[in-house]
Amino acid sequence: MKARIAGTGMAVPEKVLTNADLEKIVDTTDEWIIARTGIKERRMAAEDEGLSDFAVPAARRALEMAGLQGSDVDLVICATVTPDTSFPSTAALVQDQIGARGAAAFDLSAACTGFIYGLGVADQMIRGGGARAAVVVGGEVLTKFVDWSDRATCVLFGDGAGAVVLVGGDDERGLLATALHSDGSLGDLIHRPGGGSKTPCFNGYGDHHLNFIKMRGNETFKIAVRSLAEVSDEVLERCGLSRSDVDWFIPHQANLRIIEAVGQRLEIPEGHTYVNIERYGNTSAASIPIALDELNRAGRIEPGDHLLFSAFGSGLTWGAGLVRW
Ligand code: ACO
Repeated sequence: MKARIAGTGMAVPEKVLTNADLEKIVDTTDEWIIARTGIKERRMAAEDEGLSDFAVPAARRALEMAGLQGSDVDLVICATVTPDTSFPSTAALVQDQIGARGAAAFDLSAACTGFIYGLGVADQMIRGGGARAAVVVGGEVLTKFVDWSDRATCVLFGDGAGAVVLVGGDDERGLLATALHSDGSLGDLIHRPGGGSKTPCFNGYGDHHLNFIKMRGNETFKIAVRSLAEVSDEVLERCGLSRSDVDWFIPHQANLRIIEAVGQRLEIPEGHTYVNIERYGNTSAASIPIALDELNRAGRIEPGDHLLFSAFGSGLTWGAGLVRW
């Protein structure tokens, strides 16, 4: 028994924020952003929109594709660091709005690696008999937590959600393995220092600048390339597969240069890495399920294809997953 992806879905805000828009806000240029990151535009939630506004439609679309009802679902995981509220969980909002009556629901915090963590946890629950059908959402509304005067971070992030429906199966298809890691000693490379119990910041209490994302991008870059390549090899080895068995490499979309460097290290042939960072920027936990849904709905994944997911983010966290479609 293992978990198989039976449906995919995504939803992003309507508002598009282009590099030209950002040129009016901070001292940056379209050329710098494209050359250093590959990003041309990103989606941005409206003032009254929160994560559930994207997580719920993404989950509904995945359920529709799977041919299942909310009532078939007994587990909802929402991987995010930007939930609607710290409690209740956004997963519980999704559970309610898709009609997954009585299902277990919780949010999972592993930043950009969150979706792969969510897949790993749901897979173990399905293998162990604790769940029959699970919705795993990866979603973020990071634009509400960026400092719009910090050009080194505000150009990078975008909003949206992607979702998959997992069901149990005992044939060749499914999630073959996941590999999950963390190193909390490097937590300050990418963090949002305020807003939690240690440093609350609200209504003039505390330093509101601590609510914003801080990142040491250059140091993060180097560790990201190494970790993504290593964890991808680890998950392939665990499945008894080699790099040449990968039909689609679907990496976290943080920076085109990181994606290209990792693709080269893994010797992924041209045309086998899915990239959409130019349209969405870094959507953290949402980036892999959004990419997967686009690829799937375009009819570009063949039965039997091996899909390699790998991600890296705050924590630090990193991980990979291998799916036989
Ligand atoms: N426009 C113009 N110039 C800029 C901008 C900008 N938007 N941002 C920075 N610069 C300048 C810097 O000030 C610096 O100028 P200086 O040389 O005069 O000091 C110069 O450009 C180079 O800055 P670097 O930070 O060295 O640029 P780098 O090539 O490293 O690119 C980036 C920065 C895009 C952030 C890159 O380091 C990166 O992608 N890092 C990894 C991010 C990542 O993977 N994060 C993990 C996931 S995020 C999460 O978990 C939520």
